Amino acid sequence: MSAESTDQYHPGLEGVIANETAIANLEGKEGSGGLEYRGYRIEDLANVVSYEETAFLLLHGDLPSASQLRDFDARLRAARALPDPLVDLFRKIPPTIHPMDVLRTSVSVLSHYDPDVNAPPGDHAANVRKAERMIAQMPTAVAYHDRIVKGLPLVEPRGDLDHAANFLNMVNGSVPSETMRHAFDLSLVLYTEHELNASTFSARVTVSTLSDIYSGIVAAIGTLKGPLHGGANEEAWKVLEQVGAPENAERWIQDALARKERIMGFGHRVYKTGDPRSRILKEYCTKLAAEVGDDRWERIAEPIEKAVTTQKALPPNVDWPSARLYHYMNLSIELYTPIFAMARVAGWAAHIVEQLDHNRLMRPRARYIGPPNRSVTPLKNR
Ligand code: CMC
Repeated sequence: MSAESTDQYHPGLEGVIANETAIANLEGKEGSGGLEYRGYRIEDLANVVSYEETAFLLLHGDLPSASQLRDFDARLRAARALPDPLVDLFRKIPPTIHPMDVLRTSVSVLSHYDPDVNAPPGDHAANVRKAERMIAQMPTAVAYHDRIVKGLPLVEPRGDLDHAANFLNMVNGSVPSETMRHAFDLSLVLYTEHELNASTFSARVTVSTLSDIYSGIVAAIGTLKGPLHGGANEEAWKVLEQVGAPENAERWIQDALARKERIMGFGHRVYKTGDPRSRILKEYCTKLAAEVGDDRWERIAEPIEKAVTTQKALPPNVDWPSARLYHYMNLSIELYTPIFAMARVAGWAAHIVEQLDHNRLMRPRARYIGPPNRSVTPLKNR
């Protein structure tokens, strides 16, 4: 290895350009920062497009026309049911297993029942069809497993409900209010895609060996699970729970900062002055708190946000408001990261398709720091 290449070591791959992509842009207009999906600013997409439109945009490159959306949505609604063996498996998996691990298993099982199971890994059209099925089936898997663990009867997918309302209905057993449906749909839009984050990178690395899209998604789910990535929304809720009451918040955060604790839901590898997704979602936390008639969590969150932002210069990321948002929707904490995954699957799939369309095996190098070259002592002499 040349001296020049060993100098290129960047721990955590920080700042390394490992891919070209036409899917998401974190540079913003003329490098001003921000988030764009295929050239559209997230602020312009939010509240205007649905999750279904966003998924179509990511997979197909453009926003759908009305008839394209009708067909896409009809395919998603028709694909929501799960194969019986997966539902049986949910009844056999120990109920203590975290839903994120069960979701990883679910996607693996779903791959065996996909009608395109034998399509070559690089078959673009088959990969898009597989992506659509995963987008449709992952919410059902998350909801069914949740109901089974809670000993509740299953609520089947409803063809007359959109993606967001159908999921909330399958989990809670009641159709959400329009405010709840809209806020959930928006959170899915914001979670759908985020350039070369750890889980997307993991998915791209996996398929760069010409492995299949399901393997890429399984790898991505395993990567998303960690608390430094998607697992942070569950951890962010635990922060609020630990604080417990607004009057404890100031003391709690000052103690935590003094102990140099990592406050989950704050900071970001790329956004240093603020995560646009967090700014958009915060407004909805206030709305939903008013709808459920309990602003306690907003009053706990506010002083924590203020302290971490001013004292550590670490603004909240998307996981900070989403934890509260999902709490107001009566969703169990363990579902927060699986919900992130069932939204992000559209982004992962778009990246996998892009990778396979222009594939080059990802095989970086490591700088060796172990013992220098040495001779082997036979076992009898050691
Ligand atoms: N709370 C307290 N201190 C922090 C935090 C935090 N959340 N994040 C970073 N720092 C400190 C860190 O301790 C370090 O301090 P020092 O220089 O004194 O050692 C400094 O800031 C730099 O930290 P880093 O880990 O090198 O920075 P990074 O760019 O690698 O961090 C991060 C990115 C997301 C891993 C980190 O901010 C973090 O751990 N945040 C909490 C977990 C979290 O919310 N993750 C969600 C990320 S966004 C959406 C998603 O992927 O789900």
